[in-house]
This record gives sequence, structure tokens and C-alpha cells, in this order.
Amino acid sequence: MRRKLVAGNWKMNGTLKANEELVAGLSAELPAGSNVDVAVFPPAIYLSQVIHALSDSHINVGAQNVCEQAGSGAFTGEVSAEMLADIGCRLVIVGHSERRAAYGDTNALVAEKVGAVLDAGLVPVLCVGETDAEREAGQAFAVIAEQLMPVLKSLSVENLRQLIIAYEPVWAIGTGKTASPAQAQEVHGFIRATVAKADEQAAQEMRLLYGGSVKAANAAELFAQPDIDGGLIGGASLDAQEFSAICRAAE
Ligand code: G3H
Repeated sequence: MRRKLVAGNWKMNGTLKANEELVAGLSAELPAGSNVDVAVFPPAIYLSQVIHALSDSHINVGAQNVCEQAGSGAFTGEVSAEMLADIGCRLVIVGHSERRAAYGDTNALVAEKVGAVLDAGLVPVLCVGETDAEREAGQAFAVIAEQLMPVLKSLSVENLRQLIIAYEPVWAIGTGKTASPAQAQEVHGFIRATVAKADEQAAQEMRLLYGGSVKAANAAELFAQPDIDGGLIGGASLDAQEFSAICRAAE
């Protein structure tokens, strides 16, 4: 039985004060003892603040991006997975569509980043998903297979078993246009079957999250699908009450 995970990607949002309030709200709304794992992904500059504020909490903290280079070195502006581990991060989002579209994260670079995250002992949340045009052209599965392949090929079975994958159709991100539970389940089933070709056990144990305009009102139906093991939440993760309601919908 896979444990559900609800992850909040804050994207480039927050201030010291707003983060303090959001974290206080989450701590009050989400007491320990639930059967759902919860994680938040603040902007890099606020990671230490949020890790410190949640140090007594069951809520995990992760980063939104990472450098593909290990350790330290002359890579101005970058943050390594080892540095993230050093300050107490547990997870890292890799290959979010916003980074793929605007910051040149290719499938090959994403695979390198996944490797760097695993080498540092952290858990990668690999994002995949098709655009509207790709879906319209009947290319959704082909695009997702292409996004998965470099990662699946480069990982040992042991590392593959650490991976979390988030299916985020680009047309559903921040648009209010959620994939229907059946549409999401179809792709999640495809992703699990693709992973199974590399390793059956990894496929059965792997948590597959859905992301794209998830809110409290549609979360339960999505999370009830057999291959949907939680969500990667953007906009709705900035509101403590709404995000907590999404987490409860996963119970
Ligand atoms: O990482 C989160 C996704 O991009 C979803 O964002 O919930 O605002 O649509 P959204």
C-alpha cells in the first residue's frame, strides 16, 4: 500500500512574514498522526527559515530546483544537492515544466539533476507532462515517455526505487483547468507501466503525484484513482486552509 503524499510548490512566492503565517497555519491545521505525508517547497532563499520553523513538525521541506553539479565549485548562482541536504532539505522538485520552458532544463539535464539529488541522499520529485498542443496532436504518451527515458536509463534499480514522479499536464498548471480523474488516471497508469519495464517493484512502490489546478473541491476524486498517490499543488498551497483541506482529502 503506497502512502499518499501532498506536496506544496510555493514557486516564486513568499516573504519572511507571509511564510511565517503560512507555516503557522499549516502546523495548526495539520497535526501529526495522519496517514498522509506532507511536504512544502519554498523558494531557495527561504528554505532555512521554513526548515527551522517546521523543525518539530512532521511536514517535510524540499527545494524547487538544484544544480546538476555535485558538491561545490565555480558555478555562480547555483545551489548543489549536497548544500540542500546540509540545511535539512529532504526532497527536490526536478524538471518542473516552468523550468523546462523558461530555463532550458532539457530531458538530459533533468536526468543529471535527478542523479545529483539521489547521490546526495535526497528524494527527487521528477515532473513530466505534455502541452495542450501535444495532447491535441495525440502525442501525450510519446512526450512523457521521452521525458522519462533518460532518467529511467540512468538510474540503478536501487535509485529508481527512491524516485517520485509528478504528472503535471502543462495545460492544467495555473489555468483552473484540471485534468479529469479519468484523464489523469490514464496517464498515471501509462507512467507506472513504463517504470515497470525498468523494474516491476519500483513501479508498484513508486508514488505518482498529479499536479495542475488541484484544489480542495477536486482533490478527493483525483486521489481516489488507483494510480494517483497524492498531488503536487501550486497556487492552492499558498493558502493554509485550502492546502490542509487538500491534505485531508488524501487521508
Ligand atoms: O507544481 C505545481 C504545479 O505547477 C501546479 O500548479 O496548482 O497552480 O496549477 P497549480
